[in-house]
Amino acid sequence: MEKLQAALDKARKTRQENGPESPRAPAKPTRAARSGDVEDLWQALPAIQIDDRTLEKHRLVTQVANTKATPFDILRTKVLLQMRQNGWKRIAITSPMPNSGKTTTACNLALSLGRQSDLRSMVLDFDLRDPSVKTFLNHTPQIGLGDVISGNAEFADQAVRIGPNVAFSMANKPESDPARLLLAEETANVIDRIELEYKPDVMIFDLPSMLINDDTRAFLKNVDCALVVIRAGKTRYKQFDISEREIAEQTNVVGVVLNAYQHADVAKSGE
Ligand SMILES: Nc1ncnc2c1ncn2[C@@H]1O[C@H](COP(=O)(O)OP(=O)(O)O)[C@@H](O)[C@H]1O
Ligand SMILES: [Mg+2]
Repeated sequence: MEKLQAALDKARKTRQENGPESPRAPAKPTRAARSGDVEDLWQALPAIQIDDRTLEKHRLVTQVANTKATPFDILRTKVLLQMRQNGWKRIAITSPMPNSGKTTTACNLALSLGRQSDLRSMVLDFDLRDPSVKTFLNHTPQIGLGDVISGNAEFADQAVRIGPNVAFSMANKPESDPARLLLAEETANVIDRIELEYKPDVMIFDLPSMLINDDTRAFLKNVDCALVVIRAGKTRYKQFDISEREIAEQTNVVGVVLNAYQHADVAKSGE
């Protein structure tokens, strides 16, 4: 634990010294850096479409505006407001325990943001032990986010796009040593580089759960804020309390999503 804390302090110090506005220069210019125009870079990402069955199966309800999308649209507006007020670009989605709805929230938030044509958003699947964005979108990329972080591939060859302004960078298989990747300084450099080149307004990081291991704690130095997802009837108060405090030690807690809550009247009527 002490070792982890020391590494976190060192990484945070380096990041603070460099400042989020002045990311380290890449060792060699990527194809994206050479291309120049940001709009061209986004349009060069391969476009994918999610079929209706997949949308329904994974409760992805925000691609079009309707009553099902409303709770996520409200979340989008609230989160955006806080992020803009504070000049934040990077938001982590985490939870005390798995199966709380992190990936569901991350994808719906991204698709809701996608309906704002003046914004560019991206989702990065950093739940490297249990990557599932690929399942939610029914699309497994040939090259995974792990290859980009390890420096074996470029984001331009790895990420895909839904609509003109939402990018998804997905892991294609579980990584054997995710903690090492999440803590690595090179990972921070790669994220800085993507932000510098693609200039997203919002970067959403789908992260592992807090109480399973140290992965998320190690990674939070790379984000500006975090959204905590808890699941009604599953997450215990103590789990939430411990997680929330640990997250707040590392970054700004932007809000808490109570997922799968059913009002008693609705639950009784079976709706
Ligand atoms: N509000 C909800 N109602 C019913 N099922 C849900 C809800 N939110 C998520 N799920 C389902 O629960 C499972 C876990 O959700 P997921 O978003 O993958 O959680 P996590 O990323 O935290 O592990 C998935 O099968 C998902 O479709
Ligand atoms: Mg998940």
